[in-house]
Amino acid sequence: MMLRETRDVNRESLTTRVCSGLQMNGNVSRLRSHDSRYLCNMAEDLQITAGTKTEQYQALVPQIKALMEGESDLIANLANMVAALKEQFGWLWTGFYLVKNDELVLGPFQGPVACTRIKKGRGVCGSSWQQAKTLVVPDVEKFPGHIACSSASRSEIVIPVIRNGEVIAVLDVDSIELDHFDTIDQQYLEHLVALPSFP
Ligand code: SME
Repeated sequence: MMLRETRDVNRESLTTRVCSGLQMNGNVSRLRSHDSRYLCNMAEDLQITAGTKTEQYQALVPQIKALMEGESDLIANLANMVAALKEQFGWLWTGFYLVKNDELVLGPFQGPVACTRIKKGRGVCGSSWQQAKTLVVPDVEKFPGHIACSSASRSEIVIPVIRNGEVIAVLDVDSIELDHFDTIDQQYLEHLVALPSFP
């Protein structure tokens, strides 16, 4: 019922406050009859920005914050964060691995299918977890023990998610280009992973 109802709506572009506090230019749907509430129906458009890497992050970070504002569900927030990053930057693979029972387990991601479990100390992700620090890998083939989930990956950055002094997840990003990630990515991605509340 709701699907039919929300599909059959007037769409308009406006700047307003919708969807648990989401504030951005977007397509917002309004029920045609008997209800004037604005609904979130997955139609918010991310504002994709051209420019330098810094300019792109500066435009994207507030949008990711807005997407998470008022939403307490971890998976929902991580899913939208990786979707927004993927949409802005078009990286090969962007996703989270969550620490569960002393392993990293695949979480929300965008990109090709990936390995589901990684042990502590294994690959770039497991090493970032073990060392509790961001690892920037300019050439994955030169990283001993790199786990090749996709043969198209050439460089990688992994950011640990630390809460109360413990690594509880990692954000992993892969690029098809060699030497793609730098301290700008590190700075903004570390800022982003500090945002969501983990239960
Ligand atoms: N390359 C990672 C494995 C995860 S995939 O890239 C999605 C690693 O070496 O840990």
